[in-house]
Amino acid sequence: MRRRLFVTTALPYANGPFHIGHIMEYIQADIWVRFQRMQGHEAHLIGADDAHGAPIMLAAEKAGKPPEQFVAEIARGRKQYLDGFHIEFDNWHSTHSKENTELSQDIYRKLVNAGLVYKEPIAQFFDPVKGMFLADRYIKGECPNCGAKDQYGDACENCGTVYSPTKLKNPYSTLSGAKPVLKSSEHHFFRLSDPKCKEFLREWINKPGRLQPQVANKAKEWLEGKGDKTLADWDISRDPPYFGIRIPDIKEEKYLYVWLDAPIGYLASLKNYFDSGKARAKGETRSFAEFLAADGTEMIHFIGKDIIYFHTLFWPAMLQYSGYKTPDHVYVHGFITVSGDKMSKSRGTGVDPLRYLELGMNPEWLRYYIAAKLNANVEDIDFDPDDFKARVNSDLIGKFVNIAARSSKFISDRFDSRLAEIKRTQWLGDLPLREDILRSIGAHYENREFGKAVRDTMMIADKVNRYFDSAQPWELAKSQKNDTRLHEICSESLDYFRLLCSLLRPILPHLVKQAERFLNCELQRWDSATTPLPAGHKINRYEHLMTRVEEKQLDALFDLSKETAMTAPQLSPAAAGDGVISIDDFNKIDLRIAKIVKAEHVDGADKLLKLTLDTGNGTRTVFAGIKSAYDPAKLEGRLTVMVANLAPRKMKFGVSEGMVLAASGDGPGVFLLSPDSGAQPGMRVK
Ligand code: MSP
Ligand code: ZN
Repeated sequence: MRRRLFVTTALPYANGPFHIGHIMEYIQADIWVRFQRMQGHEAHLIGADDAHGAPIMLAAEKAGKPPEQFVAEIARGRKQYLDGFHIEFDNWHSTHSKENTELSQDIYRKLVNAGLVYKEPIAQFFDPVKGMFLADRYIKGECPNCGAKDQYGDACENCGTVYSPTKLKNPYSTLSGAKPVLKSSEHHFFRLSDPKCKEFLREWINKPGRLQPQVANKAKEWLEGKGDKTLADWDISRDPPYFGIRIPDIKEEKYLYVWLDAPIGYLASLKNYFDSGKARAKGETRSFAEFLAADGTEMIHFIGKDIIYFHTLFWPAMLQYSGYKTPDHVYVHGFITVSGDKMSKSRGTGVDPLRYLELGMNPEWLRYYIAAKLNANVEDIDFDPDDFKARVNSDLIGKFVNIAARSSKFISDRFDSRLAEIKRTQWLGDLPLREDILRSIGAHYENREFGKAVRDTMMIADKVNRYFDSAQPWELAKSQKNDTRLHEICSESLDYFRLLCSLLRPILPHLVKQAERFLNCELQRWDSATTPLPAGHKINRYEHLMTRVEEKQLDALFDLSKETAMTAPQLSPAAAGDGVISIDDFNKIDLRIAKIVKAEHVDGADKLLKLTLDTGNGTRTVFAGIKSAYDPAKLEGRLTVMVANLAPRKMKFGVSEGMVLAASGDGPGVFLLSPDSGAQPGMRVK
């Protein structure tokens, strides 16, 4: 049966470029979709930017641009990433669009008609200077429990107490610094607690195979509540100023909360795909509405673990009560970390995808590495540079590509580039039948067990290499009387390379396209390589399909060339001339006395030492480019000056959590600063 698949990935916030977490999600979905197409299924991969909400409005304001322009500029940057990593969306649109406005307002109206929306005034903190209501993350103050300063409006990072922002002592707006005032406003709520709504969700969540077990459990926990916590109604309106979609049919200016219109963006992009004629060009002749309503259309969302709540409660309920089909699957992945460190939006992101491409690193290395690490669970995966290099070089180059290089050589040189007859051989006899290989690895792809698919594929590559070695073709080649055997061995190895190409095609679309040219055959369908190529089939000359990962590329990716920039911000007199700063600017830099408690060499780094600093308030790790000037042993115990509020920076060897200050000039030498005696770790330098 031919499946009809509408597949999406989460819509990225349009306030910054893609990071490796986004790219990982797209690679996962892209591999799955490519596999489905090889199965002969109809699949449409649909994406869009999530353009609305207060953070984007504020980011645009900070950039001095109208929000429409701000998000449009972000959108223009998307293509180079997607093309660069061979991620093929059938359509990319925006939630800030005509389609999304219409659909969102329509869905809102239908929810009203279903009796699931009510209005209620709520009192909320309001910033009188900025003239806007403040979400919890824009309010700080002293913790009502422990008194810790500068705590956010929802919870204390110091003692862990959870509270509402109105409980903070001496609250202030992080936007203007003003003291917020309580102000009342009428909000619109989606009655998620309605018994019929809960009953529907219970059924939706429990449908076997719809959600991963961990995800279903999480959703059930939220749905059924824990202790005295029950599922609350959902506040879906926002007051101006807001960048979003107007709530229709009311006099006041109010907007739909961004998380209401964001998932509707999936449908908006799909509608745009149909209305623009692109779907038709791909052979889908139905209209948008027909396609969605058609029996058998499957709606499948790939998302990360942080947005399960929205996709398994709000979104299906919204769709159900506005008369749309509800999602058939929500496939949740974990987060990608880099060398074991969580990335977040505020912190740097270890591997910058664009830098990766600009360095000329092969996008399929990353696709392969990510695929090799992915499974169907909600597990985090780690990008480890050494592991990356080892896996790519040993699997893709050493095992897979190697087969093509070595077997085609004899075929081209000795047999006029033509294959021998490939019998179902005893030679590779202990490999399972090709049908069985395709079936079991196909099941891994289907189940998003890409790691298993890769592992099993490489096991076959291992075997082919082993057989090839044991037959010693280079010995056979010494005498013409062995030609038949040599020809057979090389032809069969090469045809197994062709099978491996099929098996890796969802992951390595570009390489396999080149391989198809070289093999002079097509591998569009999953079962293309079930039967061997015929005797006499002519291949083209082998040209190398992939190069190895070089250590220096990883060094460049992690920016080791700039390692000294970690030590001293070099303020040249000229720059200081036009860039005069105020005392407030200076005060933004939190300079502190720190004691070097440990100093170590870093394996593989030419310039860096790893310092452990006592900051008077715990310890921090800092990588400093002072190796040329200091023997680590002599540094231990001495005091220096550090920048304590520098954003942590991910380097190849770990995260650097600050910077120590040193002087340098045109000549050689780097000179670490130290305070006069009496200074203590933690003292502020000003
Ligand atoms: N705009 C919302 C989603 C709206 S969907 C209707 C959003 N955007 S996001 O840009 O923050 O995240 C987009 C996707 O990237 C999410 O699925 C998120 O889980 C995923 N990731 C963000 N960081 C990630 C990693 N470090 N690793 C893997 N995926 C991560 O949420
Ligand atoms: Zn506290």
